[in-house]
Amino acid sequence: MTQYQVTFLPSNQVVFARKGEKLLDVALRAQVNLDHVCGGSCACATCHVVIKDGFHHLESPDADEVERLQDLGRHLFATSRLACQTEIDADLIVEIPDHYSLIS
Ligand code: FES
Repeated sequence: MTQYQVTFLPSNQVVFARKGEKLLDVALRAQVNLDHVCGGSCACATCHVVIKDGFHHLESPDADEVERLQDLGRHLFATSRLACQTEIDADLIVEIPDHYSLIS
């Protein structure tokens, strides 16, 4: 079974994940503090993360994820993803942005 290493920033927590696991599920399993208000149904964007390494190995986001990402406005980065929609397919370094800044 293929296993990947996911490093969450800023906590620097390292978690091992199986190919195809959702990034949110991996974070929650490791008790990484990552908001997920809609429960992973691609309706809130509170699970926004920025992929610092490994982004180009991931499948492209579908139309629903792209739409939610657009809601982030100026907080959107070129390597932003929603953790609940992102299937792991590589070693990743993932930054969890300060979600309180999204409210401003
Ligand atoms: S948890 Fe709501 S979009 Fe991911």
